[in-house]
Amino acid sequence: DIHNCNVVELSKIHNPAGNITIVQNNKDLPFDVKRVYYLYDVPGGSERGGHAHKGLYQLIVAASGSFDVIIDDGKQKKIIQLNRPNFGLMVIPGIWREIVNFSSGAICFVLASEKYSEDDYIRSYDEFLNYKKH
Ligand code: TYD
Repeated sequence: DIHNCNVVELSKIHNPAGNITIVQNNKDLPFDVKRVYYLYDVPGGSERGGHAHKGLYQLIVAASGSFDVIIDDGKQKKIIQLNRPNFGLMVIPGIWREIVNFSSGAICFVLASEKYSEDDYIRSYDEFLNYKKH
């Protein structure tokens, strides 16, 4: 459920010339990364997400700027603001998510446990609620 979706602090190497955050398989993540993608140039007021995954694990990071992730397990909802590049939200399978309130210039950077598969998506909220019952 949503209580298993935690914000995790990632490494940060401080440097006056700019910081570095490192994410490594088997070290900072409970899954192996098979895919990385990022959302950017998101117009103000846009809402992304609006789906759940059956098997996909994701770590969502605000690599730049900020946005809010609404997570929902069919019973409870929580809003998490991401606004620092060295913190990530773990989203486990079976969670409905919406991403809203993108700041200008925001980059939503996602590390994912599987390659893209449309079969893994649940894109209807009714279907999601039904899926959670079985
Ligand atoms: P989607 O995951 O629905 O976007 P969001 O949740 O950010 O609103 O993906 C949008 C479109 O991009 C959809 O048609 C599928 C395609 N897509 C890929 O082809 N490969 C990918 O790895 C991702 C994430 C999306």
